Amino acid sequence: NVMLVWQRTVFHFQPEKNWMNDPNGPLYHKGWYHIFYQWNPEGAAWGNKISWGHAVDSKDLLHWYHLPWAMYPDQPYDLNGVWTGSATTLPDGKLAMLYTGETEDELVQDQCLADPVNPTDPLLVDWVKYSVNPVIYPPPGIGVKDFRDPTTACRSPAGNDTRLITIGSKLGKTGISLVYETTNFTTFKLLYGVLHAVPGTGMWECVDLYPVSTKSVIVITQENGLDTSVHGLGVKHVLKTSFDDDKHDYYALGTYDLQADTFVPDDPDLDVGIGLRLDYGKYYAARTFYNQNKQRRILWGWIGETDLEAVDPMKGWASLQAIPRSIVFDKKTGTNVLQRPEEEVESWSTRSKTFHDISFEPGSVVPIHVTGATQLDITASFEVDETLLETTSESHDAGYDCSNSGGAGTRGSLGPFGLLVVADEKLSELTPVYLYVAKGGEGKAKAHLCTYQTRSSMASGVEKDVYGSAVPVLDGENYSARILTDHSIVESFAQAGRTSVRSRDYPTKDIYGAARSFFFNNATEASVRASLKAWQTKSFIRPYPFIPDPKS
Ligand code: FRU
Repeated sequence: NVMLVWQRTVFHFQPEKNWMNDPNGPLYHKGWYHIFYQWNPEGAAWGNKISWGHAVDSKDLLHWYHLPWAMYPDQPYDLNGVWTGSATTLPDGKLAMLYTGETEDELVQDQCLADPVNPTDPLLVDWVKYSVNPVIYPPPGIGVKDFRDPTTACRSPAGNDTRLITIGSKLGKTGISLVYETTNFTTFKLLYGVLHAVPGTGMWECVDLYPVSTKSVIVITQENGLDTSVHGLGVKHVLKTSFDDDKHDYYALGTYDLQADTFVPDDPDLDVGIGLRLDYGKYYAARTFYNQNKQRRILWGWIGETDLEAVDPMKGWASLQAIPRSIVFDKKTGTNVLQRPEEEVESWSTRSKTFHDISFEPGSVVPIHVTGATQLDITASFEVDETLLETTSESHDAGYDCSNSGGAGTRGSLGPFGLLVVADEKLSELTPVYLYVAKGGEGKAKAHLCTYQTRSSMASGVEKDVYGSAVPVLDGENYSARILTDHSIVESFAQAGRTSVRSRDYPTKDIYGAARSFFFNNATEASVRASLKAWQTKSFIRPYPFIPDPKS
């Protein structure tokens, strides 16, 4: 089926076949990036033989080579699955890999240690599980099925070799994360209290805790990522948790008090689950690592399918990983992080089409003539005459939000405007990604980034949402958006990565040469001045297999 073949991506990370979920233990070691991932060797659905898939890349987090899977559920403590975990790179270059195993009979979740068989092998092809696993059992009072996904360890103030990790859980309906101390990764001590707890948020999966720099130093890359153990002045922490109950990734900025082993959010109204999400579309189980090669903190995240489950076995695969992004503190707003696709993505582009400072009238739709519109990287900036906010009859603070406001067809005086991507010539299928500028409190502009899927596919059973969220726009800034399309995935973000929306879109019409993109302005009053560059991104067909799988 040509449509199903076409849905496979060309620059997003995907296994060669079968089901994938969370990214696991990302790291940089002896010149190679490693990504491990939850992978089902038995087929294109999640199952009880979840293993660790493994791939490496020496260049840019884009040119991946598939390696044999690293771990398979074959021990009493992980027979039901080798689940999510993290890598810690120790000062002597050694690695400690922790993961969650689930037992077969009682479904007990325990934490296990694994080591590379040959640490001098840059590809880390073979892994061995520690002989006296598990290294941590669920403590008294914690549900045996609610204890998983250990984090990367950071240095503890208790002494040079002492390290801390945290593991997500819940007590009743309160999401929590427990803190453990270790010096050797084989014995662990549960510390008193919890790192953090938020009532009503349910089980916390895939907790991630890391520092971000608040200093305005301009290093060469301007990225300024921090190693996991950095603390002190000029540092804030991000606590991210994945909510099992609603399958979204939430984060808060705050202070990690190492003496008390607690995380305190900067603003209780922006606590985990109350405030911000890493993404407002389809995105889950994100995990970062510190790229010591480029001094950046890199964010990975799992993007599942939103078409019919029954289609996955026909495709032979399910899910992909979002483009790795560097993640930094937004020094301008002070209230959020910024996510930026790694700069190498740009070197992937070939032909481009540029519009410079063009005025688009209300109600216009203008084609962007770039071939290969299935694989695009678009950057756009928009200027809107906001004095219209004073003259328009639109009411103040009408409470616009993407999901409940009728999509791209709902017209306001200053929006929506943006791009129609993965569209066909006749616009019978299209996915609008747009900014909506509403009249917020005190008559000031309030922007939203939205993705509207209602007309994205004629295939049956595809989930169709209107995703999105508000995005802070500071005085003097233009509106801006970046959109990456790669066959069945659209990744969008606004204002240099303040707000992000990933969506899966399954067009049936715009495949291969038929794919088109358009600019649109559906405002009723405002004309929009836009500058826009659309690059066609290269295809990367991954060699198969790089190393034959000795285990299969
Ligand atoms: C999150 C998750 C983790 C678990 C893994 C199992 O998607 O449920 O909590 O370790 O996936 O595949």
